[in-house]
Amino acid sequence: MPKVMRIVLMGPPGCGKGTQGKMLEAKWGIPQLSTGDMLRAAVREGTEVGLQAKAFMDRGELVTDDVIVGIMRERLAKSDCQGGYILDGFPRTQGQAEALDQMLAQMQQELTAAVNLDVTDEDVVARLSGRRQCRSCGTGYHVSFKPAKQDGVCDSCGGELYQRDDDNEQTVRDRLRVYKTQTEPLLAYYENKGLLRNISGTGSIDSIFERVIQAVES
Ligand code: AP5
Ligand code: MG
Ligand code: ZN
Repeated sequence: MPKVMRIVLMGPPGCGKGTQGKMLEAKWGIPQLSTGDMLRAAVREGTEVGLQAKAFMDRGELVTDDVIVGIMRERLAKSDCQGGYILDGFPRTQGQAEALDQMLAQMQQELTAAVNLDVTDEDVVARLSGRRQCRSCGTGYHVSFKPAKQDGVCDSCGGELYQRDDDNEQTVRDRLRVYKTQTEPLLAYYENKGLLRNISGTGSIDSIFERVIQAVES
């Protein structure tokens, strides 16, 4: 591996951040850090953060910056982040992006790239309506586009596959709207820093992976 990779994966709900993030994690041996997965774990465990976050998530709204920044500050300080990391779903607001920049400065680290996976609204709705996720290891599936070998069972760990509460059509539309107003403007933030890599998120999962690797390793 040529250098320490610190990647931000960006793009609307369902663009493939989790799918590509898991593949990058396997290729580079560095953790994929999904704030969505962390919040869902907190909801499952019934922690204070989880109880607070659940209502926002069910409405397709963003959890407050202070909660998210607190979670990420702790997570990025762990030893497995020393060799790099893949941020999936963070930052999502201007405030989070600025907080991340401060943390990076404190840790004397720099981002390698912000990769934006570009997809249409129709793709998003089709992908999220058929998505399934493993309860144990978080691996993502799709009933038509990436089916598990055995219905409802994870190929990697044998765990149970479930459908997310926020993957119903109304909440998906709300998430898209929130993305466009609060998160999409961050593309300009990273473009101004010369870090943005725009990639088409349409096509086979493997071909998109090739494009991502090409964009960040070159
Ligand atoms: P989060 O869990 O991050 O959800 P999201 O951003 O809406 O993104 P998704 O996880 O839905 O999609 P993805 O891009 O990972 O796509 P995937 O790879 O699974 O956040 C959930 C909620 O938590 C938020 O709404 C908010 O409330 C809160 N939250 C999280 N982070 C926050 C933050 N920083 N600040 C504030 N609040 C925060 O792919 C989708 C499906 O498509 C899968 O079924 C997959 O198999 C399939 N697929 C993938 N690639 C392809 C392909 N090329 N072709 C066909 N199908 C494909
Ligand atoms: Mg995801
Ligand atoms: Zn699994």
